[in-house]
Amino acid sequence: MALEDKDRIFTNMHGQRDWGLDGARTRGDWDGTADIMARGRFAVVDEIKASGLRGRGGAGFPSGLKWSFMPKDRGAKPAYLIVNCDESEPGTCKDREILRNEPHKLVEGCLLAGFAMGATAAYCYIRGEYHLEYTRLQAAVEQAYAAGLIGENASGSGYDFDVFVHRGAGAYICGEETAMLESLEGKKGMPRSKPPFPAAMGLYGLPSTVTNCETVAVAPTIMRRGAQWFASFGRDKNQGTKLFCISGHVNRPCTVEESMGITMRELIDKHAGGVRGGWDNLLAIIPGGVSVPMITKDMAEKALMDFDSLREMRSGLGTGAVIVMDKSTDLIKAIARISAFYKHESCGQCTPCREGTGWMMRIMNRMVEGRAEVDEIDMLEQVTRQVEGHTICALGDAAAWPIQGLIRHFRPVMEERIAAYKAARGLSPTATQP
Ligand code: NAI
Ligand code: SF4
Repeated sequence: MALEDKDRIFTNMHGQRDWGLDGARTRGDWDGTADIMARGRFAVVDEIKASGLRGRGGAGFPSGLKWSFMPKDRGAKPAYLIVNCDESEPGTCKDREILRNEPHKLVEGCLLAGFAMGATAAYCYIRGEYHLEYTRLQAAVEQAYAAGLIGENASGSGYDFDVFVHRGAGAYICGEETAMLESLEGKKGMPRSKPPFPAAMGLYGLPSTVTNCETVAVAPTIMRRGAQWFASFGRDKNQGTKLFCISGHVNRPCTVEESMGITMRELIDKHAGGVRGGWDNLLAIIPGGVSVPMITKDMAEKALMDFDSLREMRSGLGTGAVIVMDKSTDLIKAIARISAFYKHESCGQCTPCREGTGWMMRIMNRMVEGRAEVDEIDMLEQVTRQVEGHTICALGDAAAWPIQGLIRHFRPVMEERIAAYKAARGLSPTATQP
């Protein structure tokens, strides 16, 4: 069921109102923050657990559980909340809207989430290209300090809490949580092996929790409106509202907050004006940013926008970035472009990813032309299997999955491309190409 306006958390999503502190307060931000904190940090964790909130950065890990991993008693040692605002997944621009138009929801979320996990400070790591968003967030942080909402005795709660904004420098891999920690420490952004997870050993070797911008920004509203309210949207294990970014071959690309579990078709028709040329002109959809495999039109017809529905289709909700491709799309070329992206962004420290992304990109480039043998489609599939699950971080999987999706659903298109290449050169279909 689609969301009504009264149920939206982000009521200034499109910047129609004042993004600053005065405007934020009229929308309910910073209302009774100290009262929420007076309930105690474990009460906040319990409320987030009961709400069913799962990480909105792409992995969907249960948020309350993650926030409870921090040590119960940290003594005099600092501990950190790291807010992942490095949004770099192609097709994804949801955190951008929060940073631009609702920065106070994020700053208040930093305080409440940080308090819940026993953190002393938050570092918001923001994508370097997000200049306007950086200036807005920095200004919101300064407004919050000036109003006594953060800093010493934050919001009159008796809890001291600082918020720092740190700009990235353009590397996609710094969005991976442990590469982000390395980058914050002033080192080259290269993922660390896990375990230890950041909650045990994070920034500067101290307990830390890395959480996505949207996840943190929805926490204050969940605390004010209650876990049951948030959990009333969507279905079991897939609850709440969620930001979706719809791009590609639609009539009105947009970012919108909707109920989890809305049908993919309703999401596209209602908010993005439908597929260009009508639904029948649809070829395929990447439902959650380019890391997840594409699905076909028939699958899109049945898909719900939630973790489980899309996982059952061997795809994923990912970041909720829906990329629509109509029948004019050269799917092989689209996936080859994605392969080039991963080849470029691999940090190179593990062999299957460093070498495998290059192999995948080169074979995909030949597939675009059809300059390949049919059995090389199987070889390509094998290369993806050698990379998947054999790397330090998820970038290797992310590079493999889009290709697997292409082969799974559109292998005949790849075979036709190869046959056409041979036919154009007068070669028999079984001839080995020069
Ligand atoms: P992950 O599943 O490895 O981890 C998710 C979170 O749960 C992490 O914070 C991790 O530390 C924590 N966690 C998992 N198991 C744990 C345990 N046993 N103990 C303690 N903590 C534990 O996924 P990851 O690598 O964080 O994210 C991958 C996803 O990110 C992809 O699925 C993709 O959709 C998304 N992504 C998002 C981007 C964006 O711009 N928002 C960019 C690229 C990828
Ligand atoms: Fe670096 Fe790729 Fe290994 Fe991740 S999987 S650590 S990006 S080489």
